[in-house]
Amino acid sequence: MDARCVVKTVGVTKVFGDFVAVNSVDFEVNDREAVGIIGPNGAGKTTFLNLLSGLYMPEEGSVFFKGRDVTRVPPQKRIEMGMMRTFQLVHVFDNISVYDNLALSYYRKLEGRAFPPGSVFTRLFRKDIEKIVGDVLELFELDKRSTQIVSNLPLGSKKRMELAMAHIADPEVILLDEPFAGLGDIEIDEILGILTHYIHKKTIIIVEHKITKLTQIVDKLAVMCDGAIIACGGCEETLNDPEVRKSYWKVSEDEQVCL
Ligand SMILES: Nc1ncnc2c1ncn2[C@@H]1O[C@H](COP(=O)(O)OP(=O)(O)OP(=O)(O)O)[C@@H](O)[C@H]1O
Ligand SMILES: [Mg+2]
Repeated sequence: MDARCVVKTVGVTKVFGDFVAVNSVDFEVNDREAVGIIGPNGAGKTTFLNLLSGLYMPEEGSVFFKGRDVTRVPPQKRIEMGMMRTFQLVHVFDNISVYDNLALSYYRKLEGRAFPPGSVFTRLFRKDIEKIVGDVLELFELDKRSTQIVSNLPLGSKKRMELAMAHIADPEVILLDEPFAGLGDIEIDEILGILTHYIHKKTIIIVEHKITKLTQIVDKLAVMCDGAIIACGGCEETLNDPEVRKSYWKVSEDEQVCL
């Protein structure tokens, strides 16, 4: 395997009953590369991220992380190894504060290591954790919301908080499922601004529908249709790929694509 390759799948397949949601996908992302995945609703994008993060086990094929076969490695272990994800429908603890969510995420990353005794919540308020969480709250402009219960936050702040939860675990690879979904232009640009900091510092895989926003930050674009990756390469090249024009844009050879 190429030494630069951080995430790789070989013939990975996920089946629900007799429906093939992800169909024998070969995919590779190099170290610190930012790759976008687009595709119609139901194409299998979220299912594919679930295979990468370990939420699902494939029926066939393998997932590799830094050259190691992690196909059967559970999600928590993959987080400890340095792979972190966010969810299409924000996945946070709604009934506790912003601070507690961040501290829990930090703690979850550390869980595999030795930790002093005491209840989880006692540990979350250790001085060192307070400092780390405080810095991240500031970085993501959530410091004024630290004690707020998450269910009361606007969606934009929730999405920023979910990114902050990924950030605090200091992953090597970040998997993002529709970070812009449900947000207005201003909020999307705030998230884009945050993501820009990670570009070429972390390996990032972003599933999104908002192509014009996505192509501002990714190096490569992949298109998924009916469970298969039908094209992957530079953004321009991929968007104009004959198979993408036919299956994704559904335009004829001489028609213009409107982004
Ligand atoms: N747990 C499940 N059980 C049965 N079918 C499922 C399950 N999860 C996903 N599917 C089906 O697999 C297909 C792919 O779903 P998936 O959520 O991966 O699509 P997607 O590309 O993320 O779509 P969207 O852009 O709407 O988020 C869909 O037809 C969906 O109904
Ligand atoms: Mg999805």
